[in-house]
Amino acid sequence: MHTSRSLSISAFAVAAGLTGVSFSADLVEPGGTAAATHQATFAKDEFGWQLFFYVNQQARADKAGVPDDSKTSFAQYDSDKPVVWETWALATGGELAGAENVSEVFKSPATKPVAWEELVRPERQKILAPSLKSSPLITLQPGALRNLAAGTLQAELAPHANIAGFDETRMNRITYDTIRDKDLYSLEGLDRAYAAAEATGNPMIVDFEQSAKEVKARWVRIDQKNECNPDGADLDTAKQRYHWRTLTGADAAGQPEVQTWGLVSLHIITKDLPNWFWVDFGHVDCVDVPPDSGDAVAPVDTTTRGPNATAGANGVRNEARGTKWENYVMHGTQVAFTDALGKDTILSNPVIERQNQNSSCITCHARAAVAPQASNLPPGPSIPLFLGKVGSISPGASFIDVGTPEPVFESGGQRYRQIDFLWSIPFRAYSETGN
Ligand code: HEC
Repeated sequence: MHTSRSLSISAFAVAAGLTGVSFSADLVEPGGTAAATHQATFAKDEFGWQLFFYVNQQARADKAGVPDDSKTSFAQYDSDKPVVWETWALATGGELAGAENVSEVFKSPATKPVAWEELVRPERQKILAPSLKSSPLITLQPGALRNLAAGTLQAELAPHANIAGFDETRMNRITYDTIRDKDLYSLEGLDRAYAAAEATGNPMIVDFEQSAKEVKARWVRIDQKNECNPDGADLDTAKQRYHWRTLTGADAAGQPEVQTWGLVSLHIITKDLPNWFWVDFGHVDCVDVPPDSGDAVAPVDTTTRGPNATAGANGVRNEARGTKWENYVMHGTQVAFTDALGKDTILSNPVIERQNQNSSCITCHARAAVAPQASNLPPGPSIPLFLGKVGSISPGASFIDVGTPEPVFESGGQRYRQIDFLWSIPFRAYSETGN
């Protein structure tokens, strides 16, 4: 234990950004206040860390999204136990073709998700799915997920040497409740929301509340070689250096096998700013993973780097020292399409956005948009997803789209409306009839 509750300042003070670097278990989720917006604007990196500390506290096993208050801080934890974000509602899990759709939000056929209190905790076991964004088998095309259901992904369910990591995307309660209450979990619901937005001339079909949050995590097996440890690492040592979880998977012969997975990347976004607040963290072992194209980008964190760092050094926060969390660095924060000079901002994770680290979270996500189902061209009942710049060759928002997005949201004669930066909604929603 490295910090104690006696050092703590009140949750209100943390939320208000009134503190320096003191830290304790913050049992109140940061965000959703005017003070949080102020901090997200003027002390971005500090706000990013406050989010990191909160969501990575050990969670209560029996409830969704509640910190375990028997722990005095995020620096105190038991092995192989979920942290807070791991108990939020699971958005992923629907892409396992041929297997049960275990998404808690996007079911197939689409049905209303259960009330938050009825989310089953503890979960049976951790569910990880191949990353749709980086799988070599998948291009980000309209209806990608449903096309996959036809079977492409089946082959990937067994451990697959070419798929380095698996993703987990989850949402907090307010995001979940908004998707649930506004029926945004189904294609039909999205059509209704589109029609309502069209009737009032609103370019956005939903506007999430300020305390909305989502995370996207990448896990890799630490009990074997992986892209961050190409030579492999001793498992006992790795377990000291990673937030890790075990799950029962299948070995190459299809036999049950206990596997140990380590957290290597964590995207966190909150609606504390109108175009969301974007922050990325990653394991220090992965900082130097070479990008597929373009240059690697050095982490930026004013709280721990440079001569004016007040809360740590060399990327390590004081609060995390001596714990597994000291191995996680902030790659940076992003709060706008461009900076004060008018220069495009970039932010990426070396593993998740490995295709090109000079990419921009906020720009790609601004393109998340939908058109009515009925407008779709064959083959299927899918909402076109990756609306590219009009006239560009690629049909989607891509890793080369940075800066202010093209304001034109038309393609194929269709008018698209934004879905408030959340890609998983148009990407993952199924029809109520099962498509
Ligand atoms: C080139 C496009 C692109 C870029 C760049 C990108 N993302 Fe995403 N992101 C996606 C897609 C597509 C999904 C949906 C994946 C899914 O549902 O499987 C997604 C999902 C997410 C989610 C889950 C919530 C949601 O939108 O459904 C979060 C959180 C997230 N990304 C954060 C980030 C952050 C932070 C960055 C920058 C460090 C980033 N993304 C960069 C395309 C992108």
